[in-house]
Amino acid sequence: MSITVTCVAPVNIAVIKYWGKRDEDLILPINDSLSATLDTEHLCAKTTVRASPEFKENKIWLNGREESMDNPRLQNCLKEIMKRSQLSKDMESWKLHICSENNFPTAAGLASSAAGYACLAAALAKLYKVEGDISGIARAGSGSACRSVYGGFVRWYKGSDPTGIDSIAKPIAPASHWPDMRILVLVVNDSKKKVSSAIGMKRTLLTSEFLTYKAEKIIPKRIEQIQEAILKKDFETFAEHTMRDSNEMHAACLAAYPPCIYMNDTSHLIVELMHQYNSTSDRTKVAYSFDAGPNATLFLLEKDVAELLGILDHYLPPAVDNNLEYRKGISIEVTSPSQSLLQKINFPEQQPGKLKYIIHTQVGSGPKQLPDSEALKFH
Ligand code: DP6
Repeated sequence: MSITVTCVAPVNIAVIKYWGKRDEDLILPINDSLSATLDTEHLCAKTTVRASPEFKENKIWLNGREESMDNPRLQNCLKEIMKRSQLSKDMESWKLHICSENNFPTAAGLASSAAGYACLAAALAKLYKVEGDISGIARAGSGSACRSVYGGFVRWYKGSDPTGIDSIAKPIAPASHWPDMRILVLVVNDSKKKVSSAIGMKRTLLTSEFLTYKAEKIIPKRIEQIQEAILKKDFETFAEHTMRDSNEMHAACLAAYPPCIYMNDTSHLIVELMHQYNSTSDRTKVAYSFDAGPNATLFLLEKDVAELLGILDHYLPPAVDNNLEYRKGISIEVTSPSQSLLQKINFPEQQPGKLKYIIHTQVGSGPKQLPDSEALKFH
């Protein structure tokens, strides 16, 4: 006897970043943030949860390896779910087995905790028949996860209640709202061990006054403007706010003491190349954003993807012996840039191999339940 639920949940990329907690234990942020949810077809977490009276203890496997259930964030998620469970007391006492995997390499350094905790919250909510908004449950696992419980463009309201009850995510536009928006994730070759976002944001808040200034003086206006730009599908305004917010997050990190450095030389080359490329046209064609690592996420319109991929291949070519599938996701024929375009771009061609691979994706919907036939196998 057992009950099983399997879900997939998306990755999200913030265009207005969450960086800094006003409450470490409850995971409450110092500012609102706003993100785009990515298509689960190309990037997602998949989680199977099973409850049974025969299980002796709770267990969890992440990407095939058994991990400890003692993780306080995992325990907080379970606690939040249990508060809202509608199962019988008897079934609530059944132990749980949890198995979760990403459909992209964890080593890629992409934010996997957001998709992972959103997926766990979605699967547990189905299992325990929890109704209503589950963003607070996902947030208990990882702040950014609360935005992955919805599709499209999502805003996490920081809230003001000390209990965190009003610190929840809400969708501002569905995945179908801006159909020609495309996203390229440039996975950068990097070997450096990074400071985790939890530690990095804590250090930044404690030692960089610029972070508080940004949260209080810059973000409140910027988030309203970018939300309006999304609703109006005004790409230029969207792009400028996206790039400025990313730059300002990394400026705050650099102003921490000791500094938190996430972008590497390749990241800075990407920034420079994208500004060069934008300056060759009378409209902004692409925006970049960087999280707590060197990888770039580019936002652009469908009509510009083929040309931009050509530009990337020209200036940041793949390694010659690249035996990975270099381009993943939505397939597209790349356009070689014209001589006249290349002449306008003032940027030196780089040695091959600075980028590991590129994922071409789009805005997608929130978590989905899958049939039991698609459940993950427990080890
Ligand atoms: C740079 O959500 O990973 O991706 O709440 O400590 O788990 P914790 O942090 P996390 O931080 C994400 C930071 C970011 C920006 C963002 O996604 O908003």
